[in-house]
Amino acid sequence: LITDVRLRRVLDSRGNATVEADVTTESGGFGRAAAPSGASTGEHEAIELPANEAIASAREHAVPRLVGEVYAGNQREVDAALHAADGTENFSEIGANSAVAISMAAAKAGADVLGAPLYQHLGGTFRGDQFPTPLGNVVGGGEHAEEATNIQEFLSAPVGAPSVTEAVFANAQVHARIGEILEEKGVPANKGDEGAWAPPIGDDEAFEIVDQATTEVGDELGFEISFGLDMAAAEMYEDGEYVYEGEDNRSTAEQIDYVAEMVDEYDMAYVEDPLDENDFEAFAELTDRVGDRTLICGDDLYVTNVERLQEGIDKGSSNSILIKPNQIGTLSDAVDAIELGARHGIQSVVSHRSGETEDTTIAHLAVGAAAPYIKTGTVAGERTAKLNELIRIEEQA
Ligand code: PGA
Ligand code: ZN
Repeated sequence: LITDVRLRRVLDSRGNATVEADVTTESGGFGRAAAPSGASTGEHEAIELPANEAIASAREHAVPRLVGEVYAGNQREVDAALHAADGTENFSEIGANSAVAISMAAAKAGADVLGAPLYQHLGGTFRGDQFPTPLGNVVGGGEHAEEATNIQEFLSAPVGAPSVTEAVFANAQVHARIGEILEEKGVPANKGDEGAWAPPIGDDEAFEIVDQATTEVGDELGFEISFGLDMAAAEMYEDGEYVYEGEDNRSTAEQIDYVAEMVDEYDMAYVEDPLDENDFEAFAELTDRVGDRTLICGDDLYVTNVERLQEGIDKGSSNSILIKPNQIGTLSDAVDAIELGARHGIQSVVSHRSGETEDTTIAHLAVGAAAPYIKTGTVAGERTAKLNELIRIEEQA
């Protein structure tokens, strides 16, 4: 039984305040977790409140429904209590940041009571031995850096790596190789919020550099390293057009053509949010064109929400979904989205946010829920926290 829930403000990787939760149980179990925070947030995400407000509201409404009432090991009940305490559709009362921190901390306390690793608690005894392939942000701009590429993220995708560990090091090597290429070119090597290079170059040049680096590192390591994108296109979409600084704007039809051409030209493994977050139809058109060879992933499109995912399934909008627990507020809701997707052949990519902490819950979630991919950066400390945890899990499992 949960005997204590403590909430506090801690720093995230952008230096902003976020919510951290400690959950303690009667039998001596303990779990601690912190909420991440997005910059290119989807319009339909659960609501993040200022950390102070989220903490005050959760203390008033959620803590009394948990302490002495719910077992930490019963994740469904913990998360149902959070929904009941909040009483809204989108956690606007207690804040999705308080909700997700408590949900994840309870899961860790539940695992602690069992003496099991978190991935085992989340995945259960009959969990398979599938490990997620890490997608690593190596170059980017958009909302994550000023004076850099229009496209938010260029992602190294070591699809041929024989293990998670080798994939993690491959992404780091691609990141390092790109640093060298930028230096050779005399381009200033700034960095964005997630530690990816944020050079003042156009998207065309970024495609060339990332293609070169992934090919060279792949040849050296002896396995295939593809790459992909998070276009975060909802951030570019204004008055019916996709706005590219320094280039002509693109209509929806032109955007679909452009992405399909880039997929062909670079044999890309993955494209996230290539179109606006409300355009299920345009997503479907692109998926129809390239979905047999490339993952078309909905992030802002679905916001980890099963109702929006169901609409995407009905319309054929994508073959992949991004899973961010803080977009929907609880681990149970995130697992529901992964499982609904899996039943319809939709591949899950468990993801960090651009603002992160040392919390490693998403590494365990990806393994426990058998997600085929994880997107959690490449080299910055709050990213390596998750990547190094994956390496440890691979060793144990
Ligand atoms: P965000 O970006 O965390 O700033 O929303 C990450 C993403 O768009 O995938
Ligand atoms: Zn995204």
